[in-house]
Amino acid sequence: MKIVVIGGTGLIGSRLVNKLRAQGHEVMAASPNTGVNTLTGEGLAEALKGASVVVDVSNSPNWEDSAVMNFFVTSTSNLLKEEAAAGVKHHVALSVVGTQRLAESGYFRAKIAQEKLIKESKIPYTIVQATQFFEFVKGLADISMVGDKVHLPHAYFQPMSADDVATLVGKFAVGPPVKGTVEIGGPAKFHIDELVRGRLAQLGDKREVIADPNALYSGAKIDDRTLVPDKGTTLGETRWESWVKQQAQTTKSSAA
Ligand SMILES: NC(=O)c1ccc[n+]([C@@H]2O[C@H](COP(=O)([O-])OP(=O)(O)OC[C@H]3O[C@@H](n4cnc5c(N)ncnc54)[C@H](OP(=O)(O)O)[C@@H]3O)[C@@H](O)[C@H]2O)c1
Repeated sequence: MKIVVIGGTGLIGSRLVNKLRAQGHEVMAASPNTGVNTLTGEGLAEALKGASVVVDVSNSPNWEDSAVMNFFVTSTSNLLKEEAAAGVKHHVALSVVGTQRLAESGYFRAKIAQEKLIKESKIPYTIVQATQFFEFVKGLADISMVGDKVHLPHAYFQPMSADDVATLVGKFAVGPPVKGTVEIGGPAKFHIDELVRGRLAQLGDKREVIADPNALYSGAKIDDRTLVPDKGTTLGETRWESWVKQQAQTTKSSAA
C-alpha cells in the first residue's frame, strides 16, 4: 500500500514515516524539502500517483491569522483535488482536540476551515484530533509572552508525546476511514501554567510564569474543558515524567 505523508519531514511526520516503513508500507515523505508543495501544487500530482492513503500532518510556517488561514485552505483544497484525480481512498488529517471550541483564535479558525473542507469532500476521511504535544510545552511559553513574562491560563490540558501521536495516527492511516473525527490524548491532565513553569525550570529557562485568569490560549479564552478530550478517547502510553527523563538523557548523551 502506498501512503503519502504530507509534512513527512516534520515533528510528527518524520516519526510517522519511520513507523509506517517499519510495518512494510511504501511511504513517501512529501514536503517542500522533498520537492512537494501543497500550497503551490508543485510536485503534488506526481507524488500522489498510485497512492491509496494520504496523511496530512503538515503545518503552516507562519501563524499570523491570514497566513495560516491561507495555508490550510489553499493546501487542503489543492490536496483534496489532486487526491480525487489520483483515486486516493483515504484522507487522514491531524488536527487538535477542542478545535471546534477555539474559534476565537486565528490559528484555530484555520484548522476549523481545514476540517470543513475535508468533511465536505468526496474522499473518505479520518480526522485525528490530538492534544498538545509534550514537545510543544516550551513553545506554549514562547507564544504566551506579555512583556518579559509568560501569561498562561490555569486551565487543564492533557498533553501527549509526539511519538505516541505518530503511533496512533499510523494506526488510523492503515485502518478503514472512520468518516468522522476521533480524539487522541495523553495519559494525564495537568494545569497548563504549572506544567510550563516546571518545564522552563528543568530547562534552566528563567522566565517567570504567571497564572493569569485573563490569559488566552493561542488568542482564545479557554476553561477546564476546552483542551481536554472526551472520555473514551484513545490515550498514548508515555507519561510526562518518563518523557522528561528521556529528554534529559538524550541531551546528556548528545553533549558527551
Ligand atoms: N503543536 C501541537 O501541540 C499540536 C497538537 C495537536 C495537533 N497539532 C497539529 O499537528 C500538525 C503537525 O504539526 P508538527 O508540529 O509536526 O509540524 P512541524 O514539525 O512544524 O512540521 C510541519 C511540516 O509541514 C511541512 N510543510 C510546510 N509547508 C508545506 C507546504 N507548503 N507543503 C507541504 N508541506 C509543508 C513542513 O515541511 P518542510 O520540512 O519541508 O518545511 C514539515 O514537514 C499540525 O497540523 C498541527 O495543527 C499540533
